[in-house]
Amino acid sequence: MADQEIYKGLAGVPVDYTAVSKVNPETNSLLYRGYPVQDLAASVTFEEVAYLLWHGELPTDRELAAFEQFERANRHLDPVLKRIIDELPTTAHPMDVVRSAVSVMGARDDETADDSPDAELRKAKRLFAAIPAVVAYDQRRRRGLDLVEPRDDLGYSANFLFMTFDEVPELPVVDAFDVSMILYAEHSFNASTFTARVITSTLSDLHSAVVGAIAALKGPLHGGANEAVMHTFDEIGEASNVTAWLDEALAQKRKIMGFGHRVYKHGDSRVPTMKTALDSLVGYYGRPDILDLYNALADEFTARKGIHPNLDYPSGPAYHLIGFDTELFTPLFVASRVVGWTAHIMEQRAANALIRPLSVYNGVDQRDVPAREPVE
Ligand code: ACO
Repeated sequence: MADQEIYKGLAGVPVDYTAVSKVNPETNSLLYRGYPVQDLAASVTFEEVAYLLWHGELPTDRELAAFEQFERANRHLDPVLKRIIDELPTTAHPMDVVRSAVSVMGARDDETADDSPDAELRKAKRLFAAIPAVVAYDQRRRRGLDLVEPRDDLGYSANFLFMTFDEVPELPVVDAFDVSMILYAEHSFNASTFTARVITSTLSDLHSAVVGAIAALKGPLHGGANEAVMHTFDEIGEASNVTAWLDEALAQKRKIMGFGHRVYKHGDSRVPTMKTALDSLVGYYGRPDILDLYNALADEFTARKGIHPNLDYPSGPAYHLIGFDTELFTPLFVASRVVGWTAHIMEQRAANALIRPLSVYNGVDQRDVPAREPVE
């Protein structure tokens, strides 16, 4: 085997420039197009953040109004797509449903083959508008409930919750959900975004790159962790069980979901903002038990291992309190991260180089194919 250095998992390897976001592990900070994400979460909506990530600047009032009009006009679940979703078993994982749905959207989009910047932007915005209807309908059909049509007098987050629960949500719930969407929207060259960029680098189309990104996000080491956090909470039950549960989990060398990060080693910049949103939901729904369990596990695991919570840790229980089924948590991440993925797809296309790394061969040396005995 050659003694060439390899970069397992590409850890610590910069592979390209990006102007979309900056993750700074030294200061535990995250900037979207130069703005601290916690400041955006405190003062603008998810629609404005999406516009910022795609266009590089926050929208003016007129630009925002035009974008909102576009988004509201593209919220309906395409009846053909609905029929295809209805053919899928309700036991299918919702990530498989949303991945299949985006694939169908690509096959039915008139502009799939047009990779001009304007067409790419329109396709990104159509996906942004349409994915909530898929996610909301999937939760409903799993519960044996009918589709709820969108309401165009509601903003993105209020309408998303309305389509899921058939009730206009109250402001604290909308605000907390909107904050989660903002925090999940973008995070530089994570595994799913990198997947989208690899696919784009072959000059494949935007929908194909998003399908690949969804596939990468599904895994529990990435987006799938938010649902895994809820399974952990279910397993532990209540705060007083944390020590015994942790003793056993660590003895079995289990990964504790919702903790640790490839880039942040001293805490995830998004956690304090999402924790505040979780606190507000705990107060709104009157569930201090969830917070007790949250704090007990976070405090004890971090004290014992020095590993901090990541964004999936507070967002899992937040989505649970709002009423989403646990399997729907990662599709919620998709609904948000589609913004970051598509911003990166456009950035990759604008200055493309085929992404094709090398490998170091460590298999058997060259050998001869054995001669075959002639068949009698
Ligand atoms: N639970 C237990 N041990 C952990 C955890 C964890 N959550 N995270 C890291 N460690 C330990 C590892 O076992 C390893 O220990 P060792 O050196 O004794 O073998 C050490 O810390 C380093 O961990 P790695 O997995 O090598 O670090 P890496 O940077 O590759 O992993 C990752 C980052 C995959 C996120 C990891 O922390 C993990 O598996 N976490 C749980 C899954 C999770 O929450 N993912 C969400 C990511 S954030 C997001 O998608 C929003």
